[in-house]
Amino acid sequence: MEQNFYPQIKTQLPGPKARRLIEEDHQFVSPSYTRYYPLVAEKGEGFVVEDVDGNRFLDFTAGIATCSTGHCHPKVVEAITRQAQKLIHMSGTDFYYQPQIELAKKLAQLFPGRGPAKVYFGNSGTEGIEAAMKLARYHTRRQYFISFLGGFHGRTYGSLSLTGSKVVQRERFGPLIPGVVQAPYGYCYRCPYNSNPESCKIDSAEWIEEVLFRTILPAEEVAGIVVETIQGEGGYVVPPLNFHQNLSRLAQKYGILYIVDEVQSGMGRTGKMFAIEHYGVQPDIVVTAKGIASGLPLGVMIASASIMDWGPGSHASTFGGNPIACEAALATIELLENGLMQNAADVGAYLLDNLKKLQIQHPLIGDVRGMGLMIGIELVQDLETKTPAIRQRDKLIHKCFEKGLLILGCGLSVIRLAPPLIISRHEADVALAILEESLIEVEKATEGMGS
Ligand SMILES: Cc1ncc(COP(=O)(O)O)c(C=O)c1O
Repeated sequence: MEQNFYPQIKTQLPGPKARRLIEEDHQFVSPSYTRYYPLVAEKGEGFVVEDVDGNRFLDFTAGIATCSTGHCHPKVVEAITRQAQKLIHMSGTDFYYQPQIELAKKLAQLFPGRGPAKVYFGNSGTEGIEAAMKLARYHTRRQYFISFLGGFHGRTYGSLSLTGSKVVQRERFGPLIPGVVQAPYGYCYRCPYNSNPESCKIDSAEWIEEVLFRTILPAEEVAGIVVETIQGEGGYVVPPLNFHQNLSRLAQKYGILYIVDEVQSGMGRTGKMFAIEHYGVQPDIVVTAKGIASGLPLGVMIASASIMDWGPGSHASTFGGNPIACEAALATIELLENGLMQNAADVGAYLLDNLKKLQIQHPLIGDVRGMGLMIGIELVQDLETKTPAIRQRDKLIHKCFEKGLLILGCGLSVIRLAPPLIISRHEADVALAILEESLIEVEKATEGMGS
């Protein structure tokens, strides 16, 4: 596939083949999936995705922050192919194999917490979170968890119980697991305490200690604080430095495990291997998935070895840490360490800088925030009232799609930019140009509607 020719839209969208496939999808595939626009992907190379009608898109979604090294990176494909010819599956639950041991060793070295670490292998983010919840209860013999409003941790019952992102994710699924209490997150643009970052003295740790621990939640019965280092689905919300610092201090004070969910923010996306490293905080447990294996299913829970004290039979998964996924992860990590993580920091800073310039000219943009190549643009109807511009956000995403740029939404009215970590300033410029063109069109249409 020729990577140079992008974006290139040759047909109406969706094209004829895409339309036919979407009809079939609607007939046979679960309607629970959220699809923003009708992209039917056929192949991918680097930062380009080609659909079934030959239209080429610049991908600023990376399959939801997952294809960290770009689509089908030759080194990842080579690692997958080599392993597939040797051993596809043997189940690490009952047998040993080298790729799983090698990856555990590597992840233990990368663990940003204290002391030596051990690794549990699952297949997804939610499995990593379930494992963290079970280990936290097992190790502490405590039952409660604290998580955060706006947070997203997955859709199985444990992780869903921690999730506080959208009501539709919980509707008619209750009762969820008991013992989870949600606290406000450090969302400074929409401060839950109605304060502003300059004068704010309140933080979530203080609120937990002064309110929750005095009223409804016995601190000595809390097993873990589970928190996204940067909120993903909730709106690419970057909390201030003291948010994690104070929370982790609070956790230590009461013997609570500090569990960071780096499913979306981890694996080099923010310019460091784990976003929590930007905060100078040492977590007890880290969960990551998405970008770890460039698209193969893998989720891991990395914990201090002293915490991972559960015995044989207590927790496992047949497919978790599959040899092919482990080899893909080892190849991915090598690429991240040999330049992609640094590239995410450099190109991310460039993109953020230019988006801030765009913000000055476009009042639809209320806030631009991010770290590395994890960037959110929050759209508002009015800069003073900050009323979320939900319709405009959705329109903007569609316009970008029609012009060949793939982006996704998150939060109420936020656009997320999560491209593969291989993009250069040139791709950033192409995306910026399409974004601006689309913004202007949405603004014009909004004026026409008088809202
Ligand atoms: C922060 C975070 N945690 C957990 C999950 C769940 O991951 P998965 O969909 O792989 O189960 C996600 C998925 O979007 C996520 O963004």
